[in-house]
Amino acid sequence: MFKRVEISAPGKLILCGEHAVVYGRKAIAAAINSRTHLIATSTTDNDTRNEFILNLNDISQTITINQASFKSIQQSITSNDLQEILNHVLNSSSNESKHYKAIIFMLLSNRGINWDIFCNLTVNVSSEIPLGSGLGSSASFSVCISAFLLILSGKVLLKNEWSEHELELINSHAFCLEKIFHGKASGIDNTVATFGDYILFEKGEIVKFSSNQKLPLLVVNSGMPKNTMEQVLKVRSLYEKQTEICEHIFDAIDKIVIDFLRILRHNEANVAIASDVQDLITMNHGLLCALQVSNLGLNTIVGLAEQCGFAGKLTGSGGGGCCLILLRSNEDSMQMIEKLDEMRFEHFEVANLGSPGVRVDDVVI
Ligand code: PMV
Repeated sequence: MFKRVEISAPGKLILCGEHAVVYGRKAIAAAINSRTHLIATSTTDNDTRNEFILNLNDISQTITINQASFKSIQQSITSNDLQEILNHVLNSSSNESKHYKAIIFMLLSNRGINWDIFCNLTVNVSSEIPLGSGLGSSASFSVCISAFLLILSGKVLLKNEWSEHELELINSHAFCLEKIFHGKASGIDNTVATFGDYILFEKGEIVKFSSNQKLPLLVVNSGMPKNTMEQVLKVRSLYEKQTEICEHIFDAIDKIVIDFLRILRHNEANVAIASDVQDLITMNHGLLCALQVSNLGLNTIVGLAEQCGFAGKLTGSGGGGCCLILLRSNEDSMQMIEKLDEMRFEHFEVANLGSPGVRVDDVVI
């Protein structure tokens, strides 16, 4: 079939609208130029091993599947319905890792995968995206695995340009994998990792769009792990106590998203636009603080950026994870970067916001 295949998918950044999106408002996310890479190699005919191996290099975990477990997985349920298969995997009492369950889900939803090919594969996955920081590392993993196993099943072709239908298929499987990793998932992360570019998200509806605006961003990791479910529940309990005020906050965030969208879709970049984006970012952070999802680490990063004349906000669920800071191409950010370094905050510049989605980077037949 092939000797070697390389597939990659990007991470994501929520630009604005987090939390309010859970209450029916809009959010914008974009693909970043940090990617997860899956490299699969097939052993030669005279070196058959009879075992599938998946090396998760970033967490030093290896998953192996032998013929007996392959057969017992495939016989464990007869349904072809993705939701039923997902429930079956989620309800199974086994204490296997979530990554293993992800593979089980893909094998059950793609019973056409041939053992003779599968058993000779070694798959290595590694990511440039910091894990657990809200930048979509698990979704980019889910999308790579989904694409790869759909290729093995023949439902998605091994080629450079995938059709909309093939991408939808990759995305719907990856969405199920995200539910294995995170319980309730909104679908933003896997959609961005699949389609790349920019995504406007509202009430589960997704609109893909591109932008000519160059938004130079610095992503700063607070170093604190975040727990999305915990932060969503925190906002829920605030909402139950302060419903009317929260509704106003969500409406204000929604207006920020609408203005941000207008700017991103605007063809020209100019100083007025840059200053508007700065305002929107600063206001969005303030509103997230009002929802109580920021913390000392995130506020320190945003405060430091503001001290140096830049705008910043937390991105994603908050309670940890990352902030984004809008850089201005012609202005010196050295002083801010030195201060971030002094405080040992990891950071990286996002050069190409709206990067390409999942793709086959290399094939050796
Ligand atoms: O934790 P992240 O970066 O994947 O972002 C979560 C965004 C929320 O709006 C808080 C939750 C959601 O599902 O949309």
